[in-house]
Amino acid sequence: MAMVLSEGKLWLRIIELKKELDAVIMAHNYQRPEVQDIADVTGDSLELAREATQLDARVVVLCGVRFMAESAAILNPSRTVLLSEGTAGCPMADMINIDNLRQWKSRYPNATVVCYVNSSAEVKAESDYCCTSANALKVIEAVPNDEILFIPDRNLGHYVSTKTDKRIILYPGYCNTHHRLTMKHVMRAKQEYPDAVVLVHPECRAEVIALADAALSTSQMIQYVKDSSAKTFLIGTEEGLVYGMQKDNKDKTFHAISKVLICPDMKKTTLEKIAETMEFRKNVVVIPEEIRLRAKRALDRMLAIA
Ligand code: 13P
Ligand code: SF4
Repeated sequence: MAMVLSEGKLWLRIIELKKELDAVIMAHNYQRPEVQDIADVTGDSLELAREATQLDARVVVLCGVRFMAESAAILNPSRTVLLSEGTAGCPMADMINIDNLRQWKSRYPNATVVCYVNSSAEVKAESDYCCTSANALKVIEAVPNDEILFIPDRNLGHYVSTKTDKRIILYPGYCNTHHRLTMKHVMRAKQEYPDAVVLVHPECRAEVIALADAALSTSQMIQYVKDSSAKTFLIGTEEGLVYGMQKDNKDKTFHAISKVLICPDMKKTTLEKIAETMEFRKNVVVIPEEIRLRAKRALDRMLAIA
């Protein structure tokens, strides 16, 4: 049942529902501006996962994609986690399932599996360690094995492989949104803003990363622009990040490198969807206990390292 309310009324209803449910709203940095504004917490995948272990609220409304809500549920079994929009998934996470992973593990039986958090709970449960884009190198360096099977993002895995002496076996997954960004897009943007600092996400292609000043997770980018004395930035990740950067740094200017940088799943959440999800207690994330415990082990190992 769709809720037809003006934006102001939706806002007020969500605030009421937060009290009624004893809920906290967490939003990823890629969410729509109004969703970031109503959230209690915004962050990258690592911050949201970490924050999820510190919560007092009974209900967590996760505005992002499914794997993020699953991470919150895995780490917080005593809380109810609601995904803001039930169909919001991550196409890259869907590029690997347990059967694919088991096949790859049997091809590389001596490798330790490091799994990017952009993956299902089942895949995490079948992995040794998790990592995010903010800590992938740190996790890989801490693993007591020189052979790593890195899943599912080949671009992040390749980027990390250029920074370590370990043997990194790459699984062929990728993010449709970041992979669409090409050298041409970056060069065109650099021509338009020659003085701009270029920041890209490590989910981008290697040749795009090579043209950038730094490859960083979304929150690392936020910290970078805050600390930098530069005035203009070209941002090579989902365009939602530009909103928060501009809001917090009024003396600086931010441009998404290209209009192709839109993740359709991240954009599925609206204020209306949040209100509806909370009103009807929809999209509860349920993970079988046996899977949750094994997935938690991989996430806990990451949190202990990073
Ligand atoms: P971050 O962990 O950098 O926030 O990235 C998550 C993501 O989905 C990137 O596409
Ligand atoms: Fe997944 Fe890419 Fe969207 Fe991030 S931007 S949620 S990796 S599809």
